[in-house]
Order: sequence, then C-alpha cells, then structure tokens
Amino acid sequence: MEKTFIMIKPDGVQRGLVGEIIGRFEKKGFSLKGLKLITVDRAFVEKHYSDLYAKPFFNVLVDYIISGPVVAMVWEGRGVVITGRKIIGATNPLESSPGTIRGDYAIDIGSNAIHGSDAVESARKEIPL
Ligand code: TYD
Repeated sequence: MEKTFIMIKPDGVQRGLVGEIIGRFEKKGFSLKGLKLITVDRAFVEKHYSDLYAKPFFNVLVDYIISGPVVAMVWEGRGVVITGRKIIGATNPLESSPGTIRGDYAIDIGSNAIHGSDAVESARKEIPL
C-alpha cells in the first residue's frame, strides 16, 4: 500500500494545528502508520532537503525547521502521495486554494505549516530518514 511522509512544521505545531491537520487526513480515509514529535538538527534537515541545497532560501529553510519541534508522520492509503499534496495545497500559501491546509492556515511561503512528499520516490527516501 502507498505511503507518504507528512511533517507538521514548527509553526504548525506552535500554532496548535496538529489536531486539525491529522483530522483532515483521517477524515479523507487515510491511515496513520507512525507519528513522532521530534526536534531535528541541522545535518538531518540538510539531508531531508538535499535537493534544495543550491536554492537561495536553503539556509533560512533549515533554520526554520530546526527552530522547534515538528510532528513527523507516515500516512498510508491508495493515492496518498498525490492526494496528500492536494490536501496540503500549493507551496506558496498565497497561491494555495482555500480548503487546503496551506490555503486555510498560512500566508508566508517561508512558514507554510506542513510538508508532504511530492512523489512516491521522494516518500521512499523520506520515510526511512
Ligand atoms: P519545495 O520542496 O519546493 O516545496 P514543497 O514544500 O511544497 O514540496 O520547497 C520546500 C520548502 O522550502 C517549502 O515548503 C517552503 C520553502 N521555500 C521557500 O522558503 N521559498 C521558496 O521560494 C520555495 C520554492 C520554497
């Protein structure tokens, strides 16, 4: 069965969005397979976002992810990777449709509440990490 890696980022945890976000995935019909509240270090985040290393926002992104605890989760279900991305919404919250998590709960691309694997292949890398 298909699995995806979903992470509630530090702003999402601090703003009390954990229950709301989990509820959206549950109500859609996906199954929660694992969940951890963790604070990650710089080296760990650099590995998770290794494909973005050359981007101008990389250091700010890493500083943000290590700024507080995150909720790391694995969700399972048919089509969970692509549908998970639809539930999350576009990267830039100002372009995310209302009804998506980012569309409803974020304004700033630099603190957009949640991460979700963008492909089955990325999920295969992110889940073991
Ligand atoms: P990316 O993997 O492109 O987006 P997504 O999270 O939707 O898969 O980028 C990772 C994170 O980097 C993104 O969630 C927010 C941050 N980011 C910026 O801060 N500025 C940017 O211009 C982009 C593209 C991303």
